[in-house]
Amino acid sequence: MAVILYGLMEEPLVAPSLLSADFSDMLAALAKIQAADVDWIHFDVMDGRFVPNLTFGAKMIADIKPRTRLPLDVHLMTVEPEAIAPAFAAAGADYITFHLEATVHAHRLAKSIREMGVKPGIAIVPSTPALLLSEILPFVDLVLVMTVDPGFGGQPLIPSCLDKCAFLAARRKEMGLNFLISVDGGINRETIPKAARAGADVLVMGSAFFGASDPAKAMRDAKASYKAARP
Ligand code: DX5
Ligand code: ZN
Repeated sequence: MAVILYGLMEEPLVAPSLLSADFSDMLAALAKIQAADVDWIHFDVMDGRFVPNLTFGAKMIADIKPRTRLPLDVHLMTVEPEAIAPAFAAAGADYITFHLEATVHAHRLAKSIREMGVKPGIAIVPSTPALLLSEILPFVDLVLVMTVDPGFGGQPLIPSCLDKCAFLAARRKEMGLNFLISVDGGINRETIPKAARAGADVLVMGSAFFGASDPAKAMRDAKASYKAARP
């Protein structure tokens, strides 16, 4: 497992997203994940309201938890994340990331997720400026920069979103903070070098993992191309 050195990581943390798995065969998806050198499992929770798609609830996390030692990275794309965060904490999430756009009380929710013994993360959609995160940065362990409009896998990355990573990495340094910067959406062989140069620490990959003929090799290649591109 990679050692986390904020802002100094040579290797990224890679997090396959189950969104691109075959939902009729989660055990096979998990086996693919565990056979590859990956760092986290990413869970895209969609409620059909915050985003126009529905996926799964906390039971998915609870059922997978006893089958893996990998950290479980839960991305809530839901309205009222404060109403469901406790269920995901109880299910065994290691990170719970919610959207800044989905709640007025991001500070209260980040604090309460931490009190539940889980690492809080904050996410922003492409139209939200990273500057709006300034006040919440000291209270989170992860910032998830959406690099597509959330809701579906397999979309092309929006290049301007990567500029937010560089902004966040600079703020992290200035403020002496320790959050990870995650990029989510359209991360693949073409875009990984750009994400590395922009300062992303965590690469979430749905279709680039589950769509690969050899996902383990795809992850080795992803780490190598990140390393080669890292400034
Ligand atoms: C999109 C989700 C992503 C998605 C990424 O709403 O948050 O995690 O699974 O899928 P790809 O890697 O296919 O863009
Ligand atoms: Zn996600």
